[in-house]
Amino acid sequence: MKVAFERYGKGTPFVLLHAFPLSRKMWKQQIDVLVEADCHVILPDFRGFGETPIGSDKTTMEELANDIRELLDHLEIEKAIIGGLSMGGYVTLNLYRQHPEKFAAMILADTSSLADTEEKREGRFKLIEKTLSQGMQAIVDEMIPHLTSDYTKASNPDLIKQLEKEFLQTDLESAIAALRGMAGRLDHTEMLPEISVPTLLIFGREDRVTNLDGARLLNDKIPNSKLEIIEDIGHYSNLENSNRFNSILVDFVKNNQNTNN
Ligand code: MLT
Repeated sequence: MKVAFERYGKGTPFVLLHAFPLSRKMWKQQIDVLVEADCHVILPDFRGFGETPIGSDKTTMEELANDIRELLDHLEIEKAIIGGLSMGGYVTLNLYRQHPEKFAAMILADTSSLADTEEKREGRFKLIEKTLSQGMQAIVDEMIPHLTSDYTKASNPDLIKQLEKEFLQTDLESAIAALRGMAGRLDHTEMLPEISVPTLLIFGREDRVTNLDGARLLNDKIPNSKLEIIEDIGHYSNLENSNRFNSILVDFVKNNQNTNN
């Protein structure tokens, strides 16, 4: 699958993978700071999202990881700092499982190494049914209230409106295919002690989709990891407090840059 992507800047290859049901546009506030930090920023759209066409009726995390590996090969990038938020993090862990040699460092934001619980899986299948009858509005109604913190809702209503708009623009079949894929995703917890690259974990203190228990599990099991918790925000740490997110990201890049080029 040929994925749509944008790239900016020159220097350390740096791939950021988006959340569900968003697109590469979610990283727009990270582009300038990473370019200033001498990064070659690569922002793909997963299949079915943004400008990349849908594949089949089930989008597995393995396929998404394979698409990213193919993109890196196409761009002749041997190694990159690779990170993702939430579903982007599930794909990042899959890519590490398949191709650890592609990683100079890893970033996992508001995500989890765990597979869905039975309850969560059932919830996804119910959401698929609702989405088939009510359209993307069902996903807006089910997800948006839990994604951001109360502080973000009160202080940044424009972000909530923007998220609703982007959710509603997402292709329904693609969203359903990704829900099926996330419901069937692997548990990566056993692999975590084998992650040998520096790993940055960024979580919103009020993240209720993935959560701090999962963050601490990642931090305990990944040997060279650092956990940064951003106060007062929820699941979308890069969107809810982009200043803090960016400064954590740039510090990490600067500490890990020399080994990547
Ligand atoms: C995401 O933000 O990518 C999704 O909420 C992840 C999920 O539903 O597990």
